[in-house]
Amino acid sequence: MKQVKKAVFPVAGMGTRFLPATKASPKEMMPIVDKPLIQYAVEEAVAAGITDMIFVTGRSKRAIEDHFDKAYELETELAARGKSEMLDFVRSMLPRSINCIYIRQAEALGLGHAVLCARPAVGDEPFAVLLADDLLDGTPPVMKQMVEAFGYYHCSVLGVQDVPRADTRSYGIVASRPLAERVEQITDIVEKPKPEDAPSTLAVVGRYVLTPEIFRHLDKLNPGSGGEIQLTDGIASLMQQQQILAYRYQGTRYDCGSKLGYLQATVELGMRHPEVGKPFSDYLKTRRAP
Ligand code: G1P
Repeated sequence: MKQVKKAVFPVAGMGTRFLPATKASPKEMMPIVDKPLIQYAVEEAVAAGITDMIFVTGRSKRAIEDHFDKAYELETELAARGKSEMLDFVRSMLPRSINCIYIRQAEALGLGHAVLCARPAVGDEPFAVLLADDLLDGTPPVMKQMVEAFGYYHCSVLGVQDVPRADTRSYGIVASRPLAERVEQITDIVEKPKPEDAPSTLAVVGRYVLTPEIFRHLDKLNPGSGGEIQLTDGIASLMQQQQILAYRYQGTRYDCGSKLGYLQATVELGMRHPEVGKPFSDYLKTRRAP
């Protein structure tokens, strides 16, 4: 079985929940303290041993390409001003062994369609999918945990967590039976069911390790929930032929696609930040309501 060396980052979405901030810049470039969301996801993939980062982008997403590119003007300016520490920081953002590949998704036809757009770059290999607006804070990093599970079971693995029943309509929800500690075998998966129809409260978060057979299934799909080609439907179809596992990752998820989750991530990561963590924590302890 091949190792997981490629990751797909679907980043073509509009980010309407963060307007006006996302009118002219990608939601994935919104920072948590000083690092954009997409960089947290890429670093998580790097920590999992992944070397090829495949971004499925859309219009007005140029900033993502620029972010992972060499910044000549910035580097020249920092060098001229003698800011060597900052210069090293900008230069060492991505290890040299990492390749970035960009594919355009011309129309926003859904997450399943975005993943299918990456097919020519992924080929016949298992691969990861990371949704950057789910910020996953785990030790070891969550994708590393999942790639290890894949290495053990040799089948697709979906990151899952329990959610309140009232929230099932925001997620892919699985029915499953326990297989080992943290690992369940999926028996059913439904995209965004109403709470009364949900087969459980075990929700898929934005982390997947998939076998390449998923592409054949995505290719045949008709639009599903919300009129979109859903990754969940492709997984349901693949499940008829291959075992698929749910993995209860160790870590905390911040839903940075919502304003509340974004603010929570900012506070939690801000309090641990090497530069401002201490004064920020002190500020939170002593601040008085205005
Ligand atoms: C997508 C998937 C959904 C999954 C969720 C995790 O939904 O379609 O199955 O549970 O990501 O964040 P979205 O949040 O893009 O609507």
